[in-house]
Amino acid sequence: MHKLLITIDGPAGAGKTTASKRLSDRLGYRYIDTGALYRGVALEVKDRGINHNDDAALEKMCKSLNLKFVLNEKGTRLLSDGKDITDQIRTPEMSMLASAVSAKSIVRKRLLNIQQDMAREKGAVFEGRDMGTVVFPGADVKFFLDASVKTRALRRYKELEGKTSQTLEDVERDIRQRDENDSTRALAPLKPAPDAIRVDSTDLAIDDVVELMFGHITKVIG
Ligand code: DC
Repeated sequence: MHKLLITIDGPAGAGKTTASKRLSDRLGYRYIDTGALYRGVALEVKDRGINHNDDAALEKMCKSLNLKFVLNEKGTRLLSDGKDITDQIRTPEMSMLASAVSAKSIVRKRLLNIQQDMAREKGAVFEGRDMGTVVFPGADVKFFLDASVKTRALRRYKELEGKTSQTLEDVERDIRQRDENDSTRALAPLKPAPDAIRVDSTDLAIDDVVELMFGHITKVIG
């Protein structure tokens, strides 16, 4: 069957990861979480003690960056220089640092190459912020998934519960800050591609979101 390249962009907590995973399972496609790559860069910045505003140090780090997704018995894992960093990158600190480093042109350039290389074979769902606008402007089906900030904060809070000491208010503050960073930066800001199908998940269960998206995809597959 004709394989597609599908993109899902949107802010934190909109449901992109769950929707992308379910769709890729259903279609037998690969699933690529590009936010994890920015988080991988953030962890590298932290571990190497780099100031993320030091462009020369960032450039040097980007040259030796070695991020790779592998599929093993635990699912899809992100390796940095062969070390599994999948769990380490899921902290509020890494979320904020990923958002900060993602505004840097050297980081975006390096990750652009990595992401486009991953799409040489179609049959993939890519989730992120600029998938449909910058990385894959020619994608076959593009979605922009959004939800109210309160709804997104509550979802993220439930995901983080027990893993951090953040209150719901802390989570909402961080989400608002990241929305602001990601959508106002000069390079590849978070925004819907003109040809993206916009889905608001505020009042939708994730199953309904997936059904709705799947309906659009099957129309394109024919
Ligand atoms: O999807 P996420 O929350 O894991 O992404 C972390 C940060 O990475 C996000 O705040 C902005 C950045 N990012 C980006 O700039 N472009 C992408 N395609 C994906 C993520």
